Amino acid sequence: MTIPDSVHPAWLPPEAFRAVGSRRTLVLGDGLLAETVHDEVARACARYGGRVRRAEDGPYDLVLALMAAQPLPEAAAAVHPDAEIGDEGYVLARRDGVTVVLADGTAGLLYGLFHVVRLGERAFAGERPAEHHRPATRRRMLDHWDNVDVHPVMGQVERGYAGGSIFWRDGAPRGDLARVRAYARLLAACGVNAISVNNVNVHATEARLLTDRLGDVAAIADVLRPYGIRVHLSVSFASPVVLGGLPTADPLDEDVRTWWTGVTERVYEAIPDFGGYVVKADSEGQPGPFAYGRDHADGANLLAEALAPYDGVVHWRAFVYNHRQDWRDRSTDRARAAYDHFAPLDGRFRGNVVLQVKHGPIDFQPREPVSPVIAAMPATRLAVELQVTQEYTGQQRHVCYLAPMWREVLGFRPWGPEGAAVADVVGGGDLVGVSNVGDDPYWTGHPLAQANLYAFGRLAWEPRLDPAAILDEWIDLTFAPVASVEAERSRQVLHAVMDDSWRTYERYTAPLGVGFMVRPGHHYGPDVDGYEYTPWGTYHFADRDGVGVDRTRATGTGFTGQYPPPWSEVYEALADCPDELLLFFHHVPYGHVLRSGSTVIQHIYDTHFAGAEQAAEARKRWEEAAELFDPALHARVKDLLDEQVRCAEEWRDQVNAYFFRKSGVPDAHGRRIP
Ligand code: GCU
Repeated sequence: MTIPDSVHPAWLPPEAFRAVGSRRTLVLGDGLLAETVHDEVARACARYGGRVRRAEDGPYDLVLALMAAQPLPEAAAAVHPDAEIGDEGYVLARRDGVTVVLADGTAGLLYGLFHVVRLGERAFAGERPAEHHRPATRRRMLDHWDNVDVHPVMGQVERGYAGGSIFWRDGAPRGDLARVRAYARLLAACGVNAISVNNVNVHATEARLLTDRLGDVAAIADVLRPYGIRVHLSVSFASPVVLGGLPTADPLDEDVRTWWTGVTERVYEAIPDFGGYVVKADSEGQPGPFAYGRDHADGANLLAEALAPYDGVVHWRAFVYNHRQDWRDRSTDRARAAYDHFAPLDGRFRGNVVLQVKHGPIDFQPREPVSPVIAAMPATRLAVELQVTQEYTGQQRHVCYLAPMWREVLGFRPWGPEGAAVADVVGGGDLVGVSNVGDDPYWTGHPLAQANLYAFGRLAWEPRLDPAAILDEWIDLTFAPVASVEAERSRQVLHAVMDDSWRTYERYTAPLGVGFMVRPGHHYGPDVDGYEYTPWGTYHFADRDGVGVDRTRATGTGFTGQYPPPWSEVYEALADCPDELLLFFHHVPYGHVLRSGSTVIQHIYDTHFAGAEQAAEARKRWEEAAELFDPALHARVKDLLDEQVRCAEEWRDQVNAYFFRKSGVPDAHGRRIP
């Protein structure tokens, strides 16, 4: 099983293994993942001249050993972990010229090996006191929105911007699983340990993955297993009807429960380490418990009960809102919906239900406040869902490095500076990302979008990592495994193009947190009023006097009241609300003065001119760096930057022209607004 050379190696090019592959390594431990560790090292050694053994035959430069392995070589025995290492954790140390990775479980050996790979030569220099590493979250999961059949509107991958699916093509499995295996390696190297293999919108063919097409899922699970990745499946809540021929899918119906129990038993016969079900219910037309007068706890608990004997979980999505609202109805606020539906159910979900909450209250906009649901359900297991696929952040045609946004979300403290952060709320639990991968030779369409996938895994493992440091890791592995002057220059170019790219994107798109203003349907490019009179609940309410959504308790929808203090007060007060979220929470006149000192209208002009300029600067930096990168990759990024600059100018001109025409206020700097 090898993948063609035309597929880009992403962050695992052979050179990334040079340091390990040129050394003497001992791997001590049994089991599937220990085999994987051995095979990885052996492959590197075959290329770079080192050697690897499974039993003591020293001396060694690197020892990767299970704590329980006997006898431990001296260098490893001298490392005394002072705390429990945990299933996936490891201890890394170096003394007397030997680098040691010690783990309780084989997954820890695998993650420890990839840590050594990341360090490269640095792993084999000097002394290193014992460092404990363990993931902050138990499940680090990617949801694929891949369809088995090509959907007439959404295509093979819903909101996919990287070609077809790596799993499915035209209604069938792709057969060749080499690409899936390569994907598993990449994911293990950044710490991901679970994926769901089909779209949350479960159509007719995809529903059958649960029953007569289960073999297709089992085949994927077999390929992912050696890299410590478990498979989950998106299922239709209506399965008992559409697959089982029952007259109802009522969660309290005895036959329905029996049906789910039987089906789930067969799933575990085929896939003993199956992770569980993902469910989008009563959301955007998907079936759910409401049809039977039941609530989301009834629905989720039904599936949880079936999964419980096998330690499976159900990821029940909180993305529930009225997508058929009347735009004239000012009392309905989409931002409120998830909290209104779910907060009252806190405490009613079984222990193996994980409520999966999008990070913001609306829908993956480039800027949203953190969802208040995250602070509202202390008695419920929560997962935070991030969108790695760039639906609303440039669709993998724009450079938009998302780690800074995710870092802000994970670091947000819903109860104020003294309280826990979002990362603590999901700590020990789940972080989920919607995958950005397809069958494109670069995996992610835009080659630089690979960094988002890498950063997702790394932040899920350690939410406090610095986005720029993650970028450095990704650059070192992907582009510059060997230090050199060129490597340093390419690093500088990549930082210049990527570090601030999310904020650049924010500058030239919808202003001050108001969101949307995208073309309806495909969501690419500007259309200020595109969603203004639609049923989707995504409005900005701009008129000749002002813009923004009044979500205050005093005069608006009351959404601010879903936050605990201090944020309920901060967001409520015009004077305290952070600028970047002002129009998410308040409707203000164009002349309103921001905390920055600028007026809203001047801020709109300034940021839109600046954002488009920054996109053009990024293109210039990239163009000047042609000799530092592989020509094909350079050319692909260059073409995409051309499109980004074009699109950023379109955004700038539409947004500026729109607000100039509405407000009649000229730009203080007299720049041209068409
Ligand atoms: C967005 C996206 C849909 C997706 C939905 C979801 O609204 O546009 O394609 O199905 O999110 O997360 O379920």
